[in-house]
Amino acid sequence: MKNFAKVGTALAFSLAAAMAATAQPAPPSPEEQAANAIDLRQSALKLLGYNMGPMGGMLRGNVPFDAAVVQTNAGHIAALGEMIPDLFAADTSSFDLETEALDRIWGNKDAFDEKAMDLVTAANAAAEAAASGNESQTKAAMGRVGQACGACHDDYRED
Ligand code: HEC
Repeated sequence: MKNFAKVGTALAFSLAAAMAATAQPAPPSPEEQAANAIDLRQSALKLLGYNMGPMGGMLRGNVPFDAAVVQTNAGHIAALGEMIPDLFAADTSSFDLETEALDRIWGNKDAFDEKAMDLVTAANAAAEAAASGNESQTKAAMGRVGQACGACHDDYRED
């Protein structure tokens, strides 16, 4: 009995300690918040790259043209593109963190957001062209999606 009581007391103590630890988590520092914001936006941009990959392959002729894939992936790109303005809402320019985002994004955020909307427009147009099944129109529309990525990178991403 005595031993059980001891184990019980020890358990109660560690439970209380665990609860105290979870009850008052230290709020993330501004630098941690900025690092999280960078992680999140880079994840979304990686997903843009993932969805663009097969389309780039089709344009280069390395991957056979597949209208269904274009329709799906262009739809994903449009949805992700819509999130870009929000994902860059946090101005991380004053932190010494690893990022390729140029500070000028937050000097004129509206102009940056417009580049994101250009991408959404181009991606929706590519999805529509793919739905029509016209290969040459779809390829031209995919090319414009790639240009919309490049237009933003030229101005706002470190080379
Ligand atoms: C509105 C501007 C904008 C548009 C549009 C845009 N990007 Fe980017 N992209 C950026 C910025 C800024 C970075 C650097 C982000 C960072 O490092 O914090 C970036 C980074 C990336 C990265 C590197 C992510 C990482 O950290 O590993 C990839 C991949 C990428 N973009 C792909 C794309 C593709 C593909 C498209 C088009 C389908 C696209 N982007 C459209 C602004 C944009």
